[in-house]
Amino acid sequence: MKVLVALFVVALVDVVTSQCACKTMKWANCEEPCSCSLTLTESSKQTLDCSKLVPKCFLMKAEMYRARHNLGTRKTGKPDENAFVDNDGIYDPECESDGKFKAVQCNNTEVCWCVNSAGVRRSDKKDKNIKCEPAETYWVRAEMMHKSVDVPIDVANLRTGIENALQQRYFLDKKFVSEVQYDKDARLIVVDVKKDETDRTTDLSLMTYYLEKDIKVKPLFSDEKPFVLSIQGKNVTMENVLIYYVDDKAPTFTMQKLTGGIIAVIVVVSLIVIGGFLVLFFLARRQKAHYSKAQAREMETIS
Ligand SMILES: *[C@@H]1O[C@H](CO)[C@@H](O)[C@H](O)[C@H]1NC(C)=O
Ligand SMILES: *[C@@H]1O[C@H](CO)[C@@H](O)[C@H](O)[C@H]1NC(C)=O
Repeated sequence: MKVLVALFVVALVDVVTSQCACKTMKWANCEEPCSCSLTLTESSKQTLDCSKLVPKCFLMKAEMYRARHNLGTRKTGKPDENAFVDNDGIYDPECESDGKFKAVQCNNTEVCWCVNSAGVRRSDKKDKNIKCEPAETYWVRAEMMHKSVDVPIDVANLRTGIENALQQRYFLDKKFVSEVQYDKDARLIVVDVKKDETDRTTDLSLMTYYLEKDIKVKPLFSDEKPFVLSIQGKNVTMENVLIYYVDDKAPTFTMQKLTGGIIAVIVVVSLIVIGGFLVLFFLARRQKAHYSKAQAREMETIS
């Protein structure tokens, strides 16, 4: 009987430990009673909520820690030009306690720069007295190139496939998928993910960072299952991805430096600027109209 009980306990413990794993972060350490954490520095750990994606700032810190300790986070990446894009963006970030990026980042040096809410540089590099205002990334565009398929992709079902994949894999609400475009010959899928500019609860950088890792390096999820789009029962896998970030404020760096190989290109928010000019233009016109009407009335009274 005792043996049976012991066996039962062992079996139970076994079940519990196997359930105590962090689905969304393969580098996490989980301990009984199930609580998972991620090592961020030599002296700090971050408790994780493994039902959600881990904030990018924490992930980057963990990656830098792993790189310092040769824990092989990026040796496994594809050894081609894509790996360069990925490597260059990495720095040791300063995070808020909730995992948001601080607006000023210095990578443990005296050289500092401003980042947006996705942790992507949006200013030139300056000294440590640099002043940065918060900039929210409210729109991201993922340009994904898919591997060749034997049956042509049905465009009408592409959007559904993307929405499902983003929801199931990255917990992204479908309402944020604003536009999907497809270029069959270039095998290019362009997905615009947009939130309200005032929305401060949805963090689009969660999805983009996991997506970049999924396609360019290796999944961050514990099961390391690849990112696939399921389109009418056919699996479509990706070959490359490029992410564009659009913030609620235009970036301040000089344009030449944009091409210098940062992780992603920040799109200048030209639409906003043009929109602003149009508003000014119409306001001015309205004022002028008012003015000439008033003048006309004045003329009438005089005459
Ligand atoms: C941050 O510092 C590390 C080494 O300390 C370096 O490898 C990396 O390129 C730096 N990143 C940036 C963006 O400056
Ligand atoms: C498609 O991908 C899913 C998820 O990775 C997998 O479970 C399924 O077996 C794949 N189907 C085919 C036909 O390859």
